[in-house]
Amino acid sequence: MDGQLSLFESVTEAFGRQEELENSALYKHVAERMGWTESDLEARQPVGQAGRPHNIPKRQVRWVQQTLKHLGLLERAGRGVWRLTAEGRKKVPMRRIETGQVMLAFSTELGVALWADCKTAYARGDEPIVLALTSPPFPLAKARAYGNPTEAQYVDFLCEALEPIVRRLAPGGSIVLNLSNDIFLPGMPARSLYRERLVLAMADRFGLYKMDEHPWVNRSKAPGPVQWASLKRSQLNVGWEPIYWFTNDPHKVRADNRRVLEPHTARHLGLLAGGGEQRDREFSDGAYTLRAGRSFANVTAGRIPRNVLELGHHCGSQNAYKAAARAAGLPVHGAPFPLRLAAFYIRLLTVEHDLVVDPFGGSLTVALAAEQLGRHWIATEVIWEYLAGGGLRFEDASELAWSPAFLRAA
Ligand SMILES: C[S@@+](CC[C@H](N)C(=O)[O-])C[C@H]1O[C@@H](n2cnc3c(N)ncnc32)[C@H](O)[C@@H]1O
Repeated sequence: MDGQLSLFESVTEAFGRQEELENSALYKHVAERMGWTESDLEARQPVGQAGRPHNIPKRQVRWVQQTLKHLGLLERAGRGVWRLTAEGRKKVPMRRIETGQVMLAFSTELGVALWADCKTAYARGDEPIVLALTSPPFPLAKARAYGNPTEAQYVDFLCEALEPIVRRLAPGGSIVLNLSNDIFLPGMPARSLYRERLVLAMADRFGLYKMDEHPWVNRSKAPGPVQWASLKRSQLNVGWEPIYWFTNDPHKVRADNRRVLEPHTARHLGLLAGGGEQRDREFSDGAYTLRAGRSFANVTAGRIPRNVLELGHHCGSQNAYKAAARAAGLPVHGAPFPLRLAAFYIRLLTVEHDLVVDPFGGSLTVALAAEQLGRHWIATEVIWEYLAGGGLRFEDASELAWSPAFLRAA
């Protein structure tokens, strides 16, 4: 049974990588996946009552091909050439770039989207990175469509991915990571300490400094964890995700909160209009004082944001992306973050023309925010379908990626 499953998997995987496939290329791919040698593919044995000589592995592959055809997933595209049907494209695993390969998916005037594993892509190139802003795959027990590392693998997985970026980080540059607090120990309502381990590894392995940990409060999250909050009733429903901010040099850090000021509240504007505070008061044993005519008397450009981000995940840009991806027959990314969140960190931590990267690009939200704010950007993503969908968000994306030649090159 195992053998049959992996034969099916390797045939569908081969079609997941190519629009159309000749039988010779299909046999080659499946042979590599199944560990068959060249002589396995050449050997012939008498088969059936007539005893005509056939190659058994190739016959097995053709049998899978016929089965997929009967299921309506595969169709003949020419003599000895097959392709997925529209239904097949929905069901077959998404196209993942081979380890070590880097392909240009598309470019704009300001940025490039690469179909690549981030471990490989940032090792090339030397423009200093001012901000790496990303949401890596979380170590979820039930993996997303794009897969994820386990909790035990997580620190090594992320450090390996970030290492080339840390090496290219500009002095005072930042790394901002959106992680999950909701990774539970197996069978227990207790949370994993993976993020504490990761923070220590960022300091110990890379010499980075933790600037802050911002709770991203998202009241529109679906209720959960169902097992521990709704069924066992021992946990509360989740309402936030941590966002870690690291730098390599806190003295030179390029953050400037004047780029993210919020409007003053009506109360603050009232105080300003009245010439500031009218009371002399002390609070908390003198730690905090109000001085009549001095406190809140200076006109300032805006309110410094609190280090808690309150925003729901609903986002006009995401909705438009999802509609466009569906219309193009592409899978919709299951874990994008809001454009406003990306724009906030890009404004806080960079200026125009700085280089912003997103190693785990997904639907290219960070890239889009960088483009809109006039920053250079590089985004990498291992799954082609997400790049294709994300590319629809850019008005001036080059056509290169979508040409059949590009697909064949992969
Ligand atoms: C949480 S999602 C990012 C979502 C993104 N912030 C957005 O707004 O769409 C993580 C993405 O990383 C991709 N990925 C996983 N491993 C990768 C790797 N080694 N290199 C590049 N991308 C990877 C996954 O396919 C997935 O799309």
